[in-house]
Amino acid sequence: MPATVIVGAQWGDEGKGKIVDLLAQQCDVVCRYQGGPNAGHTVIVDGETFKFRHLPSGILSGKVSVLGAGCVVDPEVLLDEIDGLEERGISAEPLRISGNAHLIMPWHIAIDGAGEKRLGKLQIGTTRRGIGPAYADKAARLGIRVQDLLDAKILRQKIETALQEKNIWLERVYEHEPFELEDVASRYEGFAQRLRPFVADTSLLVDEALRDDRSVLLEGAQGTLLDLDHGTYPFVTSSNPIAGAAATGIGIGPTRIDRVIGVSKAYVTRVGAGPFPSEMEPDLAAQVRELGQEYGTVTGRDRRPGWLDLVALRYAVRLNGITSLALTKLDVLSAFDELRVCVRYRLPDGTETDDFPAHQSDFHRAEPVFETLPGWAEPLDDCANLDDLPDAARSYVERVEQELGVPVELVGTGAAREQVLARS
Ligand code: GDP
Ligand code: IMO
Ligand code: MG
Repeated sequence: MPATVIVGAQWGDEGKGKIVDLLAQQCDVVCRYQGGPNAGHTVIVDGETFKFRHLPSGILSGKVSVLGAGCVVDPEVLLDEIDGLEERGISAEPLRISGNAHLIMPWHIAIDGAGEKRLGKLQIGTTRRGIGPAYADKAARLGIRVQDLLDAKILRQKIETALQEKNIWLERVYEHEPFELEDVASRYEGFAQRLRPFVADTSLLVDEALRDDRSVLLEGAQGTLLDLDHGTYPFVTSSNPIAGAAATGIGIGPTRIDRVIGVSKAYVTRVGAGPFPSEMEPDLAAQVRELGQEYGTVTGRDRRPGWLDLVALRYAVRLNGITSLALTKLDVLSAFDELRVCVRYRLPDGTETDDFPAHQSDFHRAEPVFETLPGWAEPLDDCANLDDLPDAARSYVERVEQELGVPVELVGTGAAREQVLARS
């Protein structure tokens, strides 16, 4: 499997970290291609839990781990993560960071928080990690990049230039304290000293790995429906999680990508605001939240559970060119005698559609058309492969495959690395 993208097929938190960790065992290089510390990827190995914000989940297996140009990097969060891992005996030595990735600066975090506060009821529910403001500065060509850390003089100059403008905005628009040049410059110079050894030409590194027939995993953060261009805008993140962005985010051509594995829960969750047609009613949602431990990895917020939405998943297959699916958390559905799946949307004009609505008002007002499927109401712990699943669980998986026209390659039956089923 030379170059494989692992992409979230829903609204994030599908279990990408666990699948990447699993596949990383047989891979040489693992790369994150977009996003920043808004991500929280959980990996559980030998009873130990790791929550990755920045680092690709491959770092656990000691694989070369790349943060690509499409990422935004908060040096403080990254260094905390590196220190935390090293305290647990895991080396961050294989980390390589693209010099073209952008830095999250303190004003980005301040503006993210203040902007959400100002929006009040209309807020997006961001993770408040500075993601939107950092990508906005990148697009406006005002950003400070990882390669600016390589030269103390340049770094200081860029911070000074940025602060001249940001402090005016912070004080006059957001009623926030200004930042002092000396404070920010000395903090970031401290970060720079520690991060310099990791900065590399990661596009070249990945290209060379592929030319040498080594296998590369490209790990997406967030999920398809949080994509800036194709997700449920404005309730999205500020980067492109979809698979096509793996090429731009790393700096390889799209023809180099061989496979795209979509990761989807056997139900759905979303955290933050925004429309969600298959959302469960509160009692059921509370039950699933408890069973699936659906609390945000980054913010601790309650995730909003919903029934599996095949319309949204079909859209994810289309947008990403998904070649197979990993269906996680099937075990959580073992608690129910009956399961609902959303097979179509009913639109405001009374028509029904299999296709994800192209216009926001149709999506906002879409009613889910559910089908009820039998549950299996038994644990999946003793299954060794997909053929061992109880009949109703196997039918559930097969129904997903039929509706979407792609095979389900992996099924998650628990949070630990080994709790995953493949074909016999
Ligand atoms: P990511 O952001 O896509 O990597 O997903 P998160 O780590 O934020 O959320 C997924 C959660 O589900 C984590 O707590 C995982 O440990 C857990 N998880 C992953 N796969 C399974 C599974 O198959 N069954 C159960 N019960 N939990 C799982
Ligand atoms: P992983 O990689 C789930 C959501 C936020 C908010 C919106 C915008 O763990 O799947 P942002 O801080 O990015 O500007 O917030 O996107 N969001 C996520 N939801 N999982 C994530 O990451 C997310 N990253 C951002 O809740 O609705
Ligand atoms: Mg997550």
